[in-house]
Amino acid sequence: MNTIKVMTVFGTRPEAVKMAPLVLELARRPGIEAVCCVTAQHREMLDAVLDIFGLRPDYDLDIMEPRQSLSTITAKCLRGMDGVLEEAKPDLVLVHGDTSTTFAGALSAFYHQIKVGHVEAGLRTWDKWSPFPEEMNRVMVSDIADLHFCPTAGNRENLRREGCKGEAFVTGNTVIDALRTTVKESFSFPESVLNRLDYVNRRVILVTCHRRENYGQPMAQIMTALRRLADAFPDTELVYPVHLSPVVQEAAHTYLDGHPRIHLIPPLAVDGMHNLMARCHLVMTDSGGLQEEAPALGKPVLVLRRETERPEAVSAGTVQLAGVEEEAIFQMASRLLSDPAAHESMARAVNPYGDGQACRRIADAIQWRFGQRKEPPEEFGA
Ligand code: UD1
Ligand code: UDP
Repeated sequence: MNTIKVMTVFGTRPEAVKMAPLVLELARRPGIEAVCCVTAQHREMLDAVLDIFGLRPDYDLDIMEPRQSLSTITAKCLRGMDGVLEEAKPDLVLVHGDTSTTFAGALSAFYHQIKVGHVEAGLRTWDKWSPFPEEMNRVMVSDIADLHFCPTAGNRENLRREGCKGEAFVTGNTVIDALRTTVKESFSFPESVLNRLDYVNRRVILVTCHRRENYGQPMAQIMTALRRLADAFPDTELVYPVHLSPVVQEAAHTYLDGHPRIHLIPPLAVDGMHNLMARCHLVMTDSGGLQEEAPALGKPVLVLRRETERPEAVSAGTVQLAGVEEEAIFQMASRLLSDPAAHESMARAVNPYGDGQACRRIADAIQWRFGQRKEPPEEFGA
């Protein structure tokens, strides 16, 4: 049996959370040689995830600098990948999702005439400006990829609508695989403020907000709505682990500093994040990953964006689009905090994004495609 050399390439926190269980799955398969390359588009936020999953990358491009432009990130990734691919010569490069690392990783593999597998393929808003630049990253990677690992049947349908070439597999999202390893009944947070919170008598609202298209006015409106909510509902505690982007840090501290029940804290390690989510009352976020994790934990989500490429949980009733205007956000959250029935109807655990078997299916699909298995994997949700 010929060994298949599979290189995973990732660089930001969400890619790391969602690729880590796959790296581990590939590494334990006979017949696969797993090689891991990080661009380190994020540094501290990436390393925190690598630590939790015990990963040691084989290559680290170490490209992060504060406030880099999209062109700089892409150019540095491309340049760094040249040497890595020339040395490692993988049979397949796996990229994840929609970041600059994802796009540059796929493009670089293409330049080296190496096959590309796209994990978390087929998500679309059909608006090239939102999320920016992620929507176009996804579209461009879909054109390059040979293997598409779609979390849901709807994602595969999106690729079909575009006439996308290559083979598509419905696998579920690997984030649900990750979630299964992190959430614990009793969990002690390294952050004392989180251990001190009264999760029974207070309502903890977990907040994150970092998207580029929300920079400026939308972020100002979102933050103002959050402060109004904390004032209007004295039994709430807002916990906001603030992304390390200087733009986000500035906005969060300008609008939310100095409130006794708003806790601006550094980014959490992923196990802390998942366990905080499991204990909270409500999630308000513009994150993609949180929209997938919270429904699996039965937590209502208000999405602080105008659109979402993750409609499955909206259809299931656990996620609502709140937009980016202060009044609408305030009103929607107020309703959930004032009407227990409205909250209850959203707080059902559903798993539209996976069953914890996505990594196995992706590894099976690779081994099937490279002739090491007779059958392709069964589909998630079939
Ligand atoms: C990137 C992705 C976005 C993803 C997000 C997840 C692109 C274009 N954007 O956006 O899709 O949702 O990651 O968080 O790829 N920083 C640090 N330390 C860190 C991480 C970031 O200091 O560990 C700071 C740096 O100043 C950096 C800035 O944050 O320049 C922004 O990072 P960048 O990767 O450019 O964009 P994100 O907004 O994080
Ligand atoms: N996350 C984390 N610590 C935090 C915030 C988020 O570990 O302080 C995790 C979260 O649970 C999810 C991923 O990071 O798995 C989402 O990353 P992010 O929101 O930065 O990016 P997006 O999903 O929007 O691309």
